[in-house]
Order: sequence, then C-alpha cells, then structure tokens
Amino acid sequence: MNMKDIMTYKDQIDMDRLPQHVAIIMDGNGRWAQNRGLDRSQGHIRGTRTTRETIEWATRLGIRYITLYTFSIENWNRPETEVSALMSLLFKNIEEKVFIDNKVRLRVIGDMSQLPRNVRDKLQECMDHTAQFDRTTAVLALSYSSRWEITECARELARKAAKGELDPETIDQDMVSRGLSTSFMPDPDLLIRTGGELRLSNYLLWQSAYTELYFTDLFWPDFSEEEFCKAIVYYQQRQRRFGKTSAQIVNEEKAK
Ligand code: IPE
Ligand code: IPE
Ligand code: MG
Repeated sequence: MNMKDIMTYKDQIDMDRLPQHVAIIMDGNGRWAQNRGLDRSQGHIRGTRTTRETIEWATRLGIRYITLYTFSIENWNRPETEVSALMSLLFKNIEEKVFIDNKVRLRVIGDMSQLPRNVRDKLQECMDHTAQFDRTTAVLALSYSSRWEITECARELARKAAKGELDPETIDQDMVSRGLSTSFMPDPDLLIRTGGELRLSNYLLWQSAYTELYFTDLFWPDFSEEEFCKAIVYYQQRQRRFGKTSAQIVNEEKAK
C-alpha cells in the first residue's frame, strides 16, 4: 500500500505553501435539511456550526484570510420568512467569545446598510473588539455581491473624475482593486464551493481571476476538516501559471 493512502489529507499539507487566502461559498444548507424532511432553517442552524468550526480549522492551520459567503445580495429575494430566520440566526451567532478565544479578527464585506440595525451594531462591536488580532482574519461576505461592489467602485471613480480629483488616464487595475471592499487583503488563492453547483454566484469575480477552484458535492453542514484539508492539498498540487508557460514557471522556481 502506498504511504499516501494511509495518510490523512491533513498530514499531506505542506505547511510552507499554505494558501494565504481561502474563500468559501457555503452552499447546500437547504438541501441538507430537505433531504432529512426538515425545514430549510434547520439546515442553516447546522450550517452555522460548520462555519464556526471552519474558522477554527483555518486558524489552527495558520491561514491568514478566510472569506465566507454568508448571504448574497440576491439572497434578499428569498421568501421573507427565510430571510428573517437567517438574520436572527446571524444575530444569535455573532459570538464575540469565539473570535476572541481563537484570536481571530472579524471583518465584513458587503452592503452593511441593508442589514437590520441590531445585526449591524453587533458586528461592529465584534469588529472593534477583535481589530488587534493579526494572525487570522475571518471575513463574512454579508449582503455581498461582486457586481454590486464593482459598480460602487466605478461610481466612486467617476465621481472623483467629475470633480477633477482624478485623471481617468491614471486608472489602472491596482486602483480598481483598492476601490473594492476586499482592498485590505490579497486575492483568494483557493476558492471552495460546497453543495455540488459549479458556479460562482456573484462571489469575488474580480478577485478570483487566478484563483484555484475546488468544488465538492458535500452540503455545507457535512463539510469537514478532512475535506477542508483535501481542498488545500488539491490547491498545492496545482501549478499556478498566471498566463505563462509551464517551463517558465519551473525556471522561476529554480531561480528562487
Ligand atoms: C447556503 O445554503 C446558505 C445561503 C445561501 C444563505 P442554501 O440555503 O443556498 O442551500 P441550498 O443551496 O438551497 O441547498
Ligand atoms: C450562494 O449560494 C450564496 C451563499 C452561499 C451565501 P446560493 O444558493 O444563493 O447560489 P445559487 O442561487 O445557487 O447560485
Ligand atoms: Mg444554495
């Protein structure tokens, strides 16, 4: 038997080549519940547990940024009962203690103005109280969509140009990146989507131009530490070429 067959995925991770930023589309809560004859909200409740655990796994491994797609702008179009159940679940689960115990900094990206006041205040408080931690940052994408943030950025640049504060000729890719809500972190190296769908659903479209993608059929409540590690091992087996040839990359590695 090959050694690799008896090693766990966790054992196979090269700790010197961890992805700096892992983005996750936490999908499949509803179907997880429906498959068990339960209400969709039960799936969301179980899913919150997985989210909490995932932040802990990422922290223990030493992942710098983990960005969790928690609620999209399009999710506002779900039935009102589901939306309000999700908002109250969110309110209940922003536990400062979990972040403080794990020394995790909390950040939020998205249109915070759409969120209920109590959720916004609690998030703000938690962000303020964890701002000093610098090892792992957990970013919740809440009322987030990529097209929304790119549109916001375009509007802001246009506003500055109209006021004469910005020469349109100086707009470059870095300036656009800096104008997005993700400007404080590097682009994701690895994006994981659970729930079996092979799409990005308006998540980090600009930022994931060269991100490695990992899809699993597991529903979010069934996502495990082993699956998380499997995704990282998969990431580490990819050769990231950024448009160059394979030989160029090998030579660059040698020269390091
Ligand atoms: C993801 O699970 C959670 C949110 C989008 C809020 P879903 O609720 O989309 O679950 P499925 O995809 O319907 O199973
Ligand atoms: C993406 O899941 C959004 C989140 C996980 C928060 P959706 O369930 O909303 O995506 P679609 O509708 O299947 O594309
Ligand atoms: Mg879904």
